[in-house]
Amino acid sequence: MTVVDTLGRPVRDLRISVTDRCNFRCTYCMPKSVFGRDYRFMPRRELLTFEEIERVARTFVTFGLRKIRLTGGEPLLRADIEVLVGMLARIDGLELTLTTNGALLSRMASALRDAGLDRVTVSLDSLDEDTFRAMNDVDFPVARVLEGIDDAAAAGLPVKVNAVVRRGVNDGGIVDLARHFRGSGHTMRFIEYMDVGATNGWRLDDVVPAAEIVRRIDEVFPLEPVEPAYTGEVARRWRYRDGAGEIGVIASVTQPFCGGCTRARVSAEGKLYTCLFAVGGTDLRALLRSGAGDGELAAAIAAVWAVRTDRYSERRTEATAALPKVEMSYIGG
Ligand code: GTP
Ligand code: 5AD
Ligand code: SF4
Ligand code: SF4
Repeated sequence: MTVVDTLGRPVRDLRISVTDRCNFRCTYCMPKSVFGRDYRFMPRRELLTFEEIERVARTFVTFGLRKIRLTGGEPLLRADIEVLVGMLARIDGLELTLTTNGALLSRMASALRDAGLDRVTVSLDSLDEDTFRAMNDVDFPVARVLEGIDDAAAAGLPVKVNAVVRRGVNDGGIVDLARHFRGSGHTMRFIEYMDVGATNGWRLDDVVPAAEIVRRIDEVFPLEPVEPAYTGEVARRWRYRDGAGEIGVIASVTQPFCGGCTRARVSAEGKLYTCLFAVGGTDLRALLRSGAGDGELAAAIAAVWAVRTDRYSERRTEATAALPKVEMSYIGG
């Protein structure tokens, strides 16, 4: 059975946050001023168990789901995450991937691959040591993330690398990132800085438009556009004219892609959100823990999706940026 929302969009992509914790404090995501020593993360009993996550995932599959992405926080901080990967990898016809900051990837890449993970996306905002350490704000070195990327590739995991670009912070390193990953087989993607959550003090002036990112790279390494693989693709793809691979730009501020948005998100405590910029979610955990049957769970999810109207990025203004929203570390990128 498929279910479409009020704009005719089906649900194809499920992003599951497995923890709200992170070992980084990226200034644009979990600033120390908010997520400091006294911050209270969710206690373990609040988190969906692996069995509960699997049940939610299998229910979404009945609606025609194609992809599951595990996120956080930092998903590799969730104990025994490879066990969950193994449980989800057994579901037929799904692409299973994970977004990580890379800090624990060297250690875990083989186990994740063996458990059935299809590929991995690693966040890396800069190759410049000072810039990267300032952005992650825990003094984490670039080299350890690069090692994680190498070890993931060696374990057989295709890799994408994500950088969030902030004007005046890391935009000077765009071409360096492109140069480093050209010809490596890994796809480098640049993300326009977004006004997610309410803690990062976002301003439109901080955004480097994707067109400018592409222009800066094209001046050094000529690019040509690649046709989208499917409608509603998040990243717009470009290829190096000399055959050294592809890059992607995620222009959710200057060229929003809500029209084709088929993404649902489930937070670590089991709330279902129909938009990255949502204010509230639907409590699936209560339903799961009250002994609801499969039909009841499916009906609850379908009912939420059927009334979905979200298209935040198409309506964004400086004013909407100040509205209350859930944090990205809670809902997952
Ligand atoms: P793949 O290409 O399949 O690896 O996935 P993807 O293109 O969805 O990329 P990924 O999941 O790595 O997302 C990259 C970034 O795009 C996220 O970290 C967000 O910053 C942004 N993003 C992803 N999905 C959405 C969305 O639904 N809305 C908005 N506004 N931004 C999104
Ligand atoms: N704007 C754009 N992307 C963001 N991410 C986190 N916060 C933001 C933001 N404000 C990205 C991370 C990572 C993914 C989980 O989400 O860099 O790639
Ligand atoms: Fe952690 Fe990713 Fe947020 Fe950085 S962007 S604080 S690595 S969850
Ligand atoms: Fe989808 Fe909301 Fe992002 Fe638009 S802003 S693409 S509706 S998650």
